Amino acid sequence: MDIDRINKNLQTSIFGKNLFYLHEIDSTNNYALKLAKEGSPEGTVVVADYQTKGKGRLDRNWYSAPGENLLLSILIYPEQEIELVQKITLAAANILIESIESYFKKHHYNKVDINVKWPNDLLINGKKTAGILTESILREKHIKALVIGFGINLNTLESKMPLEIKETATSLIEFTKEPVIIEDFLAHFLYCFEQSYFVLERTNYSQVVPVWKKYCKQFGKTISIETSNGNEEVCFYDINDEGHLIYRRTDGELKELISGTIVEA
Ligand code: BTN
Repeated sequence: MDIDRINKNLQTSIFGKNLFYLHEIDSTNNYALKLAKEGSPEGTVVVADYQTKGKGRLDRNWYSAPGENLLLSILIYPEQEIELVQKITLAAANILIESIESYFKKHHYNKVDINVKWPNDLLINGKKTAGILTESILREKHIKALVIGFGINLNTLESKMPLEIKETATSLIEFTKEPVIIEDFLAHFLYCFEQSYFVLERTNYSQVVPVWKKYCKQFGKTISIETSNGNEEVCFYDINDEGHLIYRRTDGELKELISGTIVEA
């Protein structure tokens, strides 16, 4: 990765100014959590070409071919209570969608229809394009630090993806038809992130859920969720103001799911 190119394009005041670039690391989230414990400032960013133990949600792995995609963690110190973690994660998905849309516009690429799958998978044409993993350091009821990790498929062609995800994942390159320059996308994304984050903190995250709902196509659909009694087919009913999923069971009962265990949608 060309750090000079990132710095040259970076139009932020704090995000990415303290930038850690690693050619190879276990996980950028782990690295950023370590930096948080050492007191690194808000807006610290960790990027890597390759992760040997990239983490996905629900203890899954996140694999990305070396040097092809964006593997990124952002450190923030939101002055919020624990309850807001989920909403901040939804906000991160909104920001990522908006930044892809504006990146496409800026480069005159054809518009793509990006949707979000609860809680924060980004899909294009039903195929996963990016995933977000938020990890927090908590002090009593407060968020002490939050690391938001983004795995964004930029340049791995579907035909080159590992067999297990070939059918269900995609990359931006399939739509841009030319390589996405990782450094340029990163600088653009950090600018979008910073702008939105300042507004979100000022407005107490009041617009997150309505905006997120605009990008979600799952309402009314049958989904399969993991419960202690195995998988259960339910109806995706709504998202409440905290960003939790409200689903309807076959007997009509409405229930709440706080953190994600949707198996498929
Ligand atoms: C998911 O969809 O399951 C979330 C995937 C998040 C992957 C990113 S890649 C950069 C950051 N570091 C990690 O170890 N994970 C996140």
